[in-house]
Amino acid sequence: MSKYTFPAGFLWGGAIAANQTEGAYREDGKGLTTVDLIPAGPQRWPVMGGKLDAFEPQLGLMYPSHEAIGFYHRYKEDIALFAEMGFKALRVSVSWTRIFPNGNDTEPNEPGLEFYDHLFDELLKYGIQPVVTIAHFDVPVHLVQTYGSWRSRKLVGLFERYAITLFTRYKDKVKYWMTFNEINMLLHLPFVGAGLVFSEGEDKRQIQYQAAHHQLVASALAVKACHELIPDAQIGCMLAAGSTYPYVCNPEDVWDAMNKDRESFFFIDVQSRGAYPGYAKRFFKDNGITVEMEQGDEELLKHNTVDYIGFSYYASRTASTDPEVLGRMTSGNVFGSVDNPYLQKSAWGWTIDPLGFRITANQLYDRYQKPLFVVENGLGAADEPGPGGEVADDYRIDYLQRHIAAMGEAIEDGVEIIGYTSWGPIDLVSASTGEMKKRYGYIYVDKDNAGNGTLQRSRKKSFHWYKQVIASNGGNL
Ligand code: BG6
Repeated sequence: MSKYTFPAGFLWGGAIAANQTEGAYREDGKGLTTVDLIPAGPQRWPVMGGKLDAFEPQLGLMYPSHEAIGFYHRYKEDIALFAEMGFKALRVSVSWTRIFPNGNDTEPNEPGLEFYDHLFDELLKYGIQPVVTIAHFDVPVHLVQTYGSWRSRKLVGLFERYAITLFTRYKDKVKYWMTFNEINMLLHLPFVGAGLVFSEGEDKRQIQYQAAHHQLVASALAVKACHELIPDAQIGCMLAAGSTYPYVCNPEDVWDAMNKDRESFFFIDVQSRGAYPGYAKRFFKDNGITVEMEQGDEELLKHNTVDYIGFSYYASRTASTDPEVLGRMTSGNVFGSVDNPYLQKSAWGWTIDPLGFRITANQLYDRYQKPLFVVENGLGAADEPGPGGEVADDYRIDYLQRHIAAMGEAIEDGVEIIGYTSWGPIDLVSASTGEMKKRYGYIYVDKDNAGNGTLQRSRKKSFHWYKQVIASNGGNL
């Protein structure tokens, strides 16, 4: 028995995203979305960083989102497996271009709306709460091409209309919403986070912060609409979290670590506290950044703050100002961090730090005093089925056990946490690398990096473990 007491009604489950699971990228009227242009292989990182050569898929390249794991056609089978594990919640995202194929169409695409009706109905049939992200690394390509994506104010109104369409259609089915997945990602992978493409010589930072403002305003408008249209729903923000440690106690390192955290907190400070923080204004001034606001923006941000703080936690980060230490950066993770000598790493170079999870949760709760929702956490690993066909993923069980225990500690510390949806309960396409090989699931999917495989699903050892964690409400870790 574990010593942790998770609240009654705790939302145990898993989290997936449309572009990493659904596939069917042109079916039933779906339009092209940004991720449909992100290939596997060496061209991947330049595109994610905002260097795009063409607004359509290129011959000879492989695009993992086009088929993904075929969830669009197999969702019933997959949901039955989630139900078998006892899921109370499944976090999914809606694909913007299934609803508005071009982003600015006059009418929504009915087959796209129907797909999510069926998906939510299937979840509710098993008593699984849908937790819905409105934009998970997803911008209609037509809007990138026509307006330059989120650099344009035009996107604000289009996103608002998209959000209102979802709230109106699904108001009786969905009670947990999130606006933008990992909103701070736009500073790190601007094409992934905000569909930003740069021309030679442009001031990237200026464009990123203007795009950030547009997303923040769009998020506040979505919060406003959600509260008006579905008064009994909750709508949150979503931060790619992970506290930054100073490498040593030199105040220079401490200050640097604080500023690294603020780079991310900036977004949530606006979404949750309702105003641009002083440190951001100072940063803009020092760096010659001008964020254009329209009259009424500040009022809107102030009065439409989120109900809960959704966040992903995979790793802590470490900051240093020592040039020698800076030569030892971790690889793999999109958030720059120097190697922390106290911690081990995953096969993809992501730091493993369960206590960092407790620290992060405490820090977020101290700062915002709003319920937290852990909407991603997990271990990406290259699982291999054993002779009997089952993946014995004890390393994943160990990772999750230690992280769930850390979450239990945070709850004992007084942190209010409403749920835990681990990332990729079924193997899916990796957002950063585009691989299938980087697996997070309790359910194995037979598909490799080259796209070979039957897509058949099978239970891993962790499937049975997570099932009894949920059945015991965290009592049996
Ligand atoms: C988060 C994203 O960044 O981390 C997910 O919200 C992503 O979309 C997850 O898949 C894990 O990252 P990766 O690169 O291992 O897939």
